[in-house]
This record gives sequence, structure tokens and C-alpha cells, in this order.
Amino acid sequence: MEKIFIIEHLEPKLWPWCIIEYKHISKTIGKSRVWFTNIPRSQIKKLAHYGKVFTQSVKSFQLENACILDPESNTTLTPNNAKKFQYFILGGILGDNPPKKRTAPELTQFLPNAKPFNIGKAQMSTDNAAYVTNKIIKGTPLNKIPFQDEIEIKINKIESTILPYRYALVKGKPFYSKELIKYLKEN
Ligand SMILES: C[S@@+](CC[C@H](N)C(=O)[O-])C[C@H]1O[C@@H](n2cnc3c(N)ncnc32)[C@H](O)[C@@H]1O
Repeated sequence: MEKIFIIEHLEPKLWPWCIIEYKHISKTIGKSRVWFTNIPRSQIKKLAHYGKVFTQSVKSFQLENACILDPESNTTLTPNNAKKFQYFILGGILGDNPPKKRTAPELTQFLPNAKPFNIGKAQMSTDNAAYVTNKIIKGTPLNKIPFQDEIEIKINKIESTILPYRYALVKGKPFYSKELIKYLKEN
């Protein structure tokens, strides 16, 4: 059973930062396993290279075997409980500090047949959450995945930006795309 990652876009616009994260998810998970839902018709082309794009919300899909990644869930996703699900639904929501806890009221409550799971209590970006979910699906338990809370991105010799989220460490380095750094330096 091929595991599908569904990113339900929940921002009012398809901001450049969203596109950067969605591209990173596509690269990480593989284009054939990623669906983007709730995408405005005028924006379909921007994501068409990175997965299957739907204008419909996942809330209208009536999926069986679906779970939701929601930081407010009391149950943690494990390699074992992930086995029975085919669809892993994530909120296309940008991080905020403090977290606004939008996933439950904007996504989970509309999908009563999908089971919510956390991957820890700390807030991750959607691309990090997708990476971690995929690691768990492939058999690595959450407590074996290294993380760093908060990263500092150097913009130039003087300025830097703090991203106050949890990042998975891949070969010791926080998981983010090079494109995001370029974007932060230019904007
Ligand atoms: C930046 S987070 C959104 C967090 C945000 N503060 C909220 O309002 O829920 C984007 C998405 O990544 C997933 N996610 C991030 N951290 C998670 C965690 N600790 N447990 C489960 N899912 C998580 C969820 O699907 C969430 O909707």
C-alpha cells in the first residue's frame, strides 16, 4: 500500500514560503506520493510539478485509512500504528510563535473519520513534519530521531533570523531547504 501525504493548504494565499516548503516536501517524499489540496484554481500551475494538485479540500474526500498530523493530539504516531493508514494529512499552515493551534479547529474537526496523531508536542514546519512522519512510517520511532529546537539563519555579517520551531537533524544538520535560506536573505 503506497503511503500518500496530503497537504491541505490552509493559508489565505499561496505565499512564496508555502511553495518553498511544498517543493521541499515533494523532493523529500517523492512527487508521486504527495497531494496538495484546497489550492486556488489560479495557483495550480505553481505546484503541478511537485505532486497531484486539487482545488477541492481533503474535507470533501471521504477517505478511509486516513490519519492527521496534529500537535494537539494525545496519541503519538509510531511505526506500528502508522502501518494501518494509507493517507497522512498535514496542515499547510505556516509556523507561528506562539503556536496558534490552527490544525485542530481548521482541519481535524472536519475529518471525524481520520485519526489524529502528534509527532511530539513542539511545533514543526510542514516540511519537517512530513520528513519526520515519513521516517516513522519507515520504522524509526520518534525518540530515535534527533531534533534541534530553534535555528538561527545568518542573513549577512550583521543580521540573522531566528526560526523558533523544531527541526529534525539530518546528518547533524537542521532539515530546511536551501531555497528557504535564499528567500530569507532576499526578503
Ligand atoms: C507549522 S505546523 C502548524 C502549527 C500551528 N501552530 C497550528 O496552528 O497548528 C504545520 C503542520 O505540520 C504538522 N505538525 C507540525 N508539528 C507537529 C507535531 N508536533 N505533531 C503533529 N503534527 C505536526 C501539522 O499537520 C500542522 O498542521
